[in-house]
Amino acid sequence: MRSHYCGQVDESLLDQTITLCGWVNRRRDHGGVIFVDLRDRAGLVQVVFNPDLQDVFAKAERVRNEYVLQVTGVIRLRPVDGINPKLFSGKIEVIAKELTILNEAATPPFQLDEENVGEETRLTYRYIDLRRPEMQQRFQTRAKVTGFIRRYLEDHGFLDIETPMLTKATPEGARDYLVPSRTHPGSFFALPQSPQLFKQLLMMAGMDRYYQFARCFRDEDLRADRQPEFTQIDIETSFMDENDIMNLMEGMMRATYKEVLNIDLPNPFPRMPYSEAMHRFGSDKPDMRNPLEFIDVKDLMQEVEFKVFAVPAKDPNSRIIALRVPKGDQLSRKDIDDYTKFVGRYGAKGLAYIKVNDLSAGMEGLQSTILKFLPDQVVKNILERTQAQNGDVIFFGADKARIVNDAMGALRLKVGQDLNLLQGDWAALWVVDFPMFEFDDKENRWVAIHHPFTAPKGDDWMTNPGEALSRAYDMVLNGTEVGGGSIRIHSMEMQKQVFNLLGISDEEAEQKFSFLLNALKYGCPPHGGLAFGLDRLVMLMTGSQSIRDVMAFPKTQTAACPLTDAPAEVPAKQLRELNIRVQLPEKQA
Ligand code: AMO
Ligand code: AMP
Repeated sequence: MRSHYCGQVDESLLDQTITLCGWVNRRRDHGGVIFVDLRDRAGLVQVVFNPDLQDVFAKAERVRNEYVLQVTGVIRLRPVDGINPKLFSGKIEVIAKELTILNEAATPPFQLDEENVGEETRLTYRYIDLRRPEMQQRFQTRAKVTGFIRRYLEDHGFLDIETPMLTKATPEGARDYLVPSRTHPGSFFALPQSPQLFKQLLMMAGMDRYYQFARCFRDEDLRADRQPEFTQIDIETSFMDENDIMNLMEGMMRATYKEVLNIDLPNPFPRMPYSEAMHRFGSDKPDMRNPLEFIDVKDLMQEVEFKVFAVPAKDPNSRIIALRVPKGDQLSRKDIDDYTKFVGRYGAKGLAYIKVNDLSAGMEGLQSTILKFLPDQVVKNILERTQAQNGDVIFFGADKARIVNDAMGALRLKVGQDLNLLQGDWAALWVVDFPMFEFDDKENRWVAIHHPFTAPKGDDWMTNPGEALSRAYDMVLNGTEVGGGSIRIHSMEMQKQVFNLLGISDEEAEQKFSFLLNALKYGCPPHGGLAFGLDRLVMLMTGSQSIRDVMAFPKTQTAACPLTDAPAEVPAKQLRELNIRVQLPEKQA
């Protein structure tokens, strides 16, 4: 129906007759001449309707926003004062010779360039929302990324193999989405949280190198970078150790960035042990563009009487850290009050600070409500340890380590953004040497930090599980975990021991994972892999704020789809066939 895309015509086609199809982005009546900006996937072009062609002009008069048109016309240069340097087609216009209105359009619920349209409305009319040029751009980038990565993996010998959607629960740590079985009354499939066990079985099956763009389903609390249904680039290989895998995968990421964004990521990516990341940044996914670092000052507070510091100073599970912020003198009293509220959301009970106005004036040059509680020598030691400069603010966090890490880690990111401290556009990092286990106080048992199929590092992990490290690795880009994986356990004995340590009895292991334990008996190769969150990666690569912006039909914060109204009630007959009776929770008073 067309000879060219609207967004791809320019002066190289001067005087040619072309045919375009697209949507009316805007129609302007200029006293006798009608201008239509016609829009398609590739962009916009200006079409001119002159009254001398009466039929065509009459049709153009009927045209409204979002009508679908087919236009044949001749390309002419625009008059000099009509040139639009922002458009690819900005130097030319199309003089219409023929017009077919392919379809009319009701007045859209919002204009494509309207700001502050509610997300619910955008998602209800997603097919209109997706027409916006920035959305078109994002999905073109997404398709470039997936196309390139597929080719990269195939060039490196990876086989694309699908795994089931109707399956058994795999423990990635979230709640499962369940699907009732009609043929097995009372039994349920779980939608996969990841293809983890299937990809391991494929290694046992001798496939050697597997990949899949896999849909994963996790019923968890949603955030900007979490959706209940998302896509992983899921990868597994045999006979490679963690170094081989990390090298191959960062090579893939470098190549993807180069191809799609023409950006050079570092070679190699820096690697940082988990313990160092927590120590310096309070996070296992530090944004390395941010120059702020935690500085431990617990040892300096041992003799201090000020209760805010005295109590955590004596508690082995607590931390006291200082965060020195250059340019902190730009922060007003109100800013600091706001930051105090901000850290409060993460459980911090306050936010002590010292403003460093003039070091040469000694204690007089400092400003803080806590100075009166601290001996001068302690203050001096703090200034020395933090290498304080005039104009800095030094913030303090003192509490259980988890609270300090969460609260001050979040503050570090926020202050870095607010004061424009970020350096560089891209920071890639591997975080390695994760702990193997973590003690869950609520459940009073050990849990696996990655998943229970990850191999421990070294031989003495059983004697001291709290100290044991795993062979897991996470790829972090600009403070977002874009991917994670590990070398897996390939011995049945070790797998059983890990299950036991996690409090999974032999019977339970047999019931849940007998297929895996069995398979491990029949010649399992050493293997490992990882999975990238494709949506998160594309979010970063397109500079989007949320993964919802790079998913065509995402769910809302409450895991619903306003477009289709899913999830929805189903007819009683369907429930009966599935042997399901619905009991709604009592209405909360
Ligand atoms: P993991 O659970 O770390 O590992 O997931 C891998 C990557 O998937 C992305 N991701 C998500 N993206 C959007 N919404 C979500 N709810 C969500 N959850 C996770 C993240 C994360 O890094 N089977 C293992 C991988 C392996 O060991 O090979 C796994 O699923 O970017
Ligand atoms: P208070 O004696 O509780 O009024 O606290 C004195 C100062 O210490 C205030 O600036 C508080 O914001 C700050 N503060 C209180 N608790 C903590 C904490 N756990 N970590 C850091 N600063 C705190």
